[in-house]
Amino acid sequence: MLSPMCQYSAEDGLANEWHRVHLGTRAVGGAGMVMMEATAVEPDGRITPQCHGIWSDDHAERLAPITDFMRSQGAVPGIQLAHAGRKASTSRPWDGNDPLQPDEGGWEVVGPSADPYPHSEGTVPTRKMDRSDIDRVIEQFGAAAERALAAGFEVAEVHAAHGYLLHEFLSPVTNNRDDEYGGSFENRSRLVREVTERVRSVWPDEKPVFVRISASDWLPDRPSWDIEQSVRLAGELDELGADLIDVSGGGIHPDQQIPNTGPGYQVPYAEQIRAETDIAVASVGGITEPKHADALVRNERTDLVALGREMLRNPYWPLQAAHELGEAIDWPPQYRRGQFS
Ligand SMILES: Cc1cc2nc3c(=O)[nH]c(=O)nc-3n(C[C@H](O)[C@H](O)[C@H](O)COP(=O)(O)O)c2cc1C
Repeated sequence: MLSPMCQYSAEDGLANEWHRVHLGTRAVGGAGMVMMEATAVEPDGRITPQCHGIWSDDHAERLAPITDFMRSQGAVPGIQLAHAGRKASTSRPWDGNDPLQPDEGGWEVVGPSADPYPHSEGTVPTRKMDRSDIDRVIEQFGAAAERALAAGFEVAEVHAAHGYLLHEFLSPVTNNRDDEYGGSFENRSRLVREVTERVRSVWPDEKPVFVRISASDWLPDRPSWDIEQSVRLAGELDELGADLIDVSGGGIHPDQQIPNTGPGYQVPYAEQIRAETDIAVASVGGITEPKHADALVRNERTDLVALGREMLRNPYWPLQAAHELGEAIDWPPQYRRGQFS
């Protein structure tokens, strides 16, 4: 699977030629599944003003030709539905990745608590969500899923990782609420469960729902989200009809200490969730070698492998990997003259 990767290239959240060519190229390159980038369910849920969104039918209409093309190449189109929470309103990476104030084209952001994200260059105004905000976001995830379905996507992935809104509710680092959405594990995980249920209710049974989580906050020095809670959440999401947990890590706080960034550094988390629950898992992070990816699946350490940065370097990675592994794979007929012999 192509791992979801923000392109910071939309105007008013609308996909354009960049998205069509970027995603289309990865489909031509042989990806089994192409997961479109974090896609905001409301304008304020974008990370940057250039992030992709799906808060209107116009947004969905732009996507139908893109999913048609992916399918024509044998790739399964997926879309990651997201809300950036208190990490919203920054400039894009090549403009500095800095917090954007409301008078600079940014906006007031929302989170489980009023504490702002501690960006190195300052903070943006952050408002604690009340009950009506929570209800609205749940509805927006449902409406976004309906539009994504109409646009031809086969897989809906709920983004509950990397310190964005749903993860902010899960983690005691960012959630200090004292209502039914804060405190105990059950309360902190309520919003993720409700959003997953809402998406599941509009997504047809035969099409998969994924949930991407950060298995750990990597903040062992304070009360935080960890693999034990992730295993418990995965089991509960399974009960609610989710089909796969896409296991990533980190993002909640800049103090995080990533224990290891070597090849497959997050695989042990996926493996543990797979072993201790009945739900399927995807592994992502530092996977670049075909034999490694293949072994992870064959040895039943993961059910699916996602590649991010390697597929930025080489969109034809799947075609080359198939060759290296001696697997038959159909090349697009237009490219057969380039096929390895
Ligand atoms: C440019 C870029 C954009 C990303 N955007 C997203 C995103 O929209 N949603 C998400 O869940 N992860 C995002 N990620 C994380 C990747 O999906 C992936 O999990 C991470 O890069 C680790 O995998 P890799 O080592 O194969 O790159 C992004 C990563 C990169 C490099």
